[in-house]
Amino acid sequence: MSLLEVENLSVKFKTNDGIVSAVNDVSFSMDAGKTLAIVGESGSGKSQTAFSILGLLAPNGLSTGSVKFDGQEILNAPLKELNKVRAEEIAIVFQDPMTSLNPYMRVSEQMAEVLIHHQGISKAEAFNQSVAMLDAVKIPDAKRRARLYPHEFSGGMRQRVMIAMSLLCRPKLLIADEPTTALDVTVQAQIMDLFSDIQKEFGMGVILITHDLGVVAGFCEDVLVLYGGRVMEQGPVDPVFENPSHPYTQGLLRAIPRIDQKSDVLDTIPGTPPNMLLPPKGCPFVARCKHADDICGDQLPDLCELTAGRLRACHQPMEKLV
Ligand SMILES: Nc1ncnc2c1ncn2[C@@H]1O[C@H](COP(=O)(O)OP(=O)(O)OP(=O)(O)O)[C@@H](O)[C@H]1O
Ligand SMILES: [Mg+2]
Repeated sequence: MSLLEVENLSVKFKTNDGIVSAVNDVSFSMDAGKTLAIVGESGSGKSQTAFSILGLLAPNGLSTGSVKFDGQEILNAPLKELNKVRAEEIAIVFQDPMTSLNPYMRVSEQMAEVLIHHQGISKAEAFNQSVAMLDAVKIPDAKRRARLYPHEFSGGMRQRVMIAMSLLCRPKLLIADEPTTALDVTVQAQIMDLFSDIQKEFGMGVILITHDLGVVAGFCEDVLVLYGGRVMEQGPVDPVFENPSHPYTQGLLRAIPRIDQKSDVLDTIPGTPPNMLLPPKGCPFVARCKHADDICGDQLPDLCELTAGRLRACHQPMEKLV
């Protein structure tokens, strides 16, 4: 049995302009201790996929499908059940730590609160465990720093605090939504190294949501490529990156600047993502795809197996895409 099994997950938002189809029919599964990347341009549905798993959608959102964690259905589960799953089984690290940390509470108090609530331990014990976790995420002088307020930490340190907080209850799955985008490159690398270390130490599964394909290549085993809220391609990272089977993945990979190839202009994917209020009838990528023909505008391509464990949703044969 997989740790997480997501089947036909869809997320719709009711807005004054109509229904926004943010996530459409997304399915994937993840075994314990694995790393999965969710990639795609801004607005492709990455965060809403993650939020719906944990029941964190905005009030105008509705999710359908199935999400099983350790075999138990958690999609749209009652709040009481979800609250238990949230900190103790699945934890989430958000993009901007300042919006998730309480500015008026000392870091140690915020961390201890989690432990006291979920594990019912004493205040003193909760403080000690919080300091130990800050130590584990390599906050120097953790015992003293634990008593500081969030604004007294640098951006990179605050992100470490968030990661420490998410690990307190030893979750089996950590969802990290762009955990490093707000940080500069050297701090980004430190945080990814930290993720790698703690993942090995705690043996937890990680879903990493990111724009950074370099990070995906270095850190993740599997990848899910989303576009217009749909899966374009999914499979193990190495073969997908070596030989992408969807024009969108090809475009994403070509848009990464490379040190070994000097060029004045970057290879971009021309055009903009589809309007999710009026999704196109056929493939969502049709308007931007240089390989598209009539069928692509008319029919939504099925997600089909290319080779064992690799799926793609494209009408065009692989030979045509090179
Ligand atoms: N509360 C909401 N009401 C209406 N539409 C929403 C709401 N929340 C998100 N959306 C829409 O859902 C779509 C997917 O959003 P999502 O946050 O998953 O994007 P993302 O892939 O995480 O992008 P980014 O890389 O910018 O974080 C977007 O078109 C967004 O505008
Ligand atoms: Mg997002």
